[in-house]
Amino acid sequence: MKAAATDLAISARGLQRAFAGNMAVASLDLDVQRGEMFGLVGPDGAGKSTAIRLLCGLLKPNAGAATVLDLDLVRQADEIKRHIGYLSQNFTLYGDLTIDENIEFFAELHGVGGWPARRDELLAFTRLTPFRRRLAGALSGGMKKKLALACTLIHTPQLIFLDEPSTGVDPVSRGEFWSILSGLLAQGVTILMTTPYLDEAERCHRIALLHRGRVMRAGTPTEIKAALPGRIYRLASPSLTAAYQALRAQRSAERLVLYGDRLHLWSPAGGEEEARTAVAELEARGLGPAQFQESTPTLEDVFVGLLGTEGAKNENPKV
Ligand SMILES: Nc1ncnc2c1ncn2[C@@H]1O[C@H](COP(=O)(O)OP(=O)(O)OP(=O)(O)O)[C@@H](O)[C@H]1O
Ligand SMILES: [Mg+2]
Repeated sequence: MKAAATDLAISARGLQRAFAGNMAVASLDLDVQRGEMFGLVGPDGAGKSTAIRLLCGLLKPNAGAATVLDLDLVRQADEIKRHIGYLSQNFTLYGDLTIDENIEFFAELHGVGGWPARRDELLAFTRLTPFRRRLAGALSGGMKKKLALACTLIHTPQLIFLDEPSTGVDPVSRGEFWSILSGLLAQGVTILMTTPYLDEAERCHRIALLHRGRVMRAGTPTEIKAALPGRIYRLASPSLTAAYQALRAQRSAERLVLYGDRLHLWSPAGGEEEARTAVAELEARGLGPAQFQESTPTLEDVFVGLLGTEGAKNENPKV
């Protein structure tokens, strides 16, 4: 008898995968609710793509267990593949085939019956209908991603994995891509995505910060921001670059961060003393007038802070 569907689309415990002595995913614990947009966030090499490929059943884990849509990841990988879609980080379209032909190719690959109607629906949904006879090789970056997404959706998956779907896409197309994803959520599709953009991570229902193949924190963006101990102070000085260089000599990388036009000082103990000292130091070095102001932590602040303090404790064992 088949067990009743749970409200979890993904539940993974201790998933592990190494490559030639290198631990790519050390121990992945992850719960993704049905119908949510979940973001996996982490620095280059954190194991995001490997985690996705494990959860799609494309890579075999060395240890651990997971269920995906209530199916066992190892024993029922083929069944899982019928119900999920995967947009890989380096997806390939056939450049010498048109938009229409690319979708047709994926429809045949998945054995989708009555695919022409589904294709028309997806072209309308991604607003690619006017360009359907254009060669994929001649499309802009944003249009290529939308076509890749349409190909990923041809078999009407319940759960889709999107690995950095908006990398290399201009901001206008990113906005459009996000409205398409909202449309999918409205249809009840569950989305697990990776993104290097923290403004995109903010738009996910829940996120997990992955570091060296482990989840360091998971929760809503608000919960994650509340997890940073202490306070963030924004420093002002006529030259932020010079101010950053002057202060950084005495402070570690996670305590002082320059984000474009914002210089943030993190005080884990939360007292104003550290901010006052920094301002006095700037004034003494002729980098005044300097000021400080308490600032609400951004996801960037939290990630930099947590990676700096906890990440160091979390060194990967070699296997
Ligand atoms: N097929 C493979 N063979 C050998 N090593 C691999 C393979 N795939 C991944 N790795 C290694 O595993 C680690 C995690 O890689 P992964 O691609 O999962 O990271 P990522 O978080 O997706 O990084 P990025 O942000 O750069 O896409 C890296 O050290 C990478 O070099
Ligand atoms: Mg990757």
